[in-house]
Amino acid sequence: MKDLTIREPESALQPTLFPSRMDRQEVANQAAHCNSWTSWEDCFWFHKYASFAPEGSYILEIGTYLGRSAYAMGIQSQAARLVLVDPWGNGNQMACPTDDLWRDVQNNLRRFRIRGAKPRVYYVRGGSENPAVIRRVSNAIRGLPYGFIFIDGLHTYTACKADIQHYVLPNVPLDAFVGMHDYMQSAPGSTQAINELLDGGEFRLVETTGNLAILKRVAL
Ligand SMILES: C[S@@+](CC[C@H](N)C(=O)[O-])C[C@H]1O[C@@H](n2cnc3c(N)ncnc32)[C@H](O)[C@@H]1O
Repeated sequence: MKDLTIREPESALQPTLFPSRMDRQEVANQAAHCNSWTSWEDCFWFHKYASFAPEGSYILEIGTYLGRSAYAMGIQSQAARLVLVDPWGNGNQMACPTDDLWRDVQNNLRRFRIRGAKPRVYYVRGGSENPAVIRRVSNAIRGLPYGFIFIDGLHTYTACKADIQHYVLPNVPLDAFVGMHDYMQSAPGSTQAINELLDGGEFRLVETTGNLAILKRVAL
């Protein structure tokens, strides 16, 4: 039976002091060049939680589109690597004005390509369920401490479960945060997968903001 109840976050688990001092407007101003339907409210919260990424760590995103969330997570981050997974195929159902997604995302995120820039962007082009993509991601993050993972790829139940299985469960350490998008009644696949993850007892919900769920690992 599908459980699409949006759960209440456990306020006792919420961090009180974020490393980033940027406010909503600053995050929106900085990422304004990245077209998306992702709300600025959600961007602000990815940014805040990604700011816990320690120096030299990695941030992994599944589902980057034109780079709005990636940019919001990367600005002011101490992380060394921003590993981004997406097929970047044209005909994408998000359909923000662009005739070349692949060209435009690289253009939007070019500040992370400049020599010496932090975090350094790594593009992994392909579906997150593809074994070759899983291998390339694992090579890209190997040896670096965990920073943050944001899951925003295909929002079907099966795809979301697979992303949890391949990227969240093996990588997120105790007490670390993970962001999962489309935690809302109108996205039954991702909502059900997130609820099942919560029911498993290894993760607790610390924040729901807009369409975003922030989970914290509480058991291994
Ligand atoms: C909701 S959009 C991401 C929005 C983005 N995070 C932002 O802030 O603008 C979903 C993205 O997932 C990508 N996607 C679709 N299928 C995927 C898959 N199998 N693996 C990884 N990404 C996928 C799509 O190409 C699309 O760019």
